Amino acid sequence: MTTILVCFEIAPGRFWPVNADTAVYVCICNGVTDHQIREAASTGCTTVAELTMRTGCGATCGSCLDMAGDLLAKALNTHDLPLPVLGLQAA
Ligand code: FES
Repeated sequence: MTTILVCFEIAPGRFWPVNADTAVYVCICNGVTDHQIREAASTGCTTVAELTMRTGCGATCGSCLDMAGDLLAKALNTHDLPLPVLGLQAA
């Protein structure tokens, strides 16, 4: 069994372990977390502009927009595909 530990570097040389339950602030100005961005993606948000309108992410200083956009894109690319797309049949 292989265990992968994902960490954020919170300061030079200091790391914080992250798992699926750990929410991380992406937008400090407006208190928007990675969980909120994934939730927005799962409910149909497809652009950073829409994410900003829904959550306020990026609406103040804008320094979080690149990371928010990356997270949104990754969340949109990790949706489950229906089995027929893969040519498989449900058992
Ligand atoms: S950190 Fe997101 S608007 Fe400033």
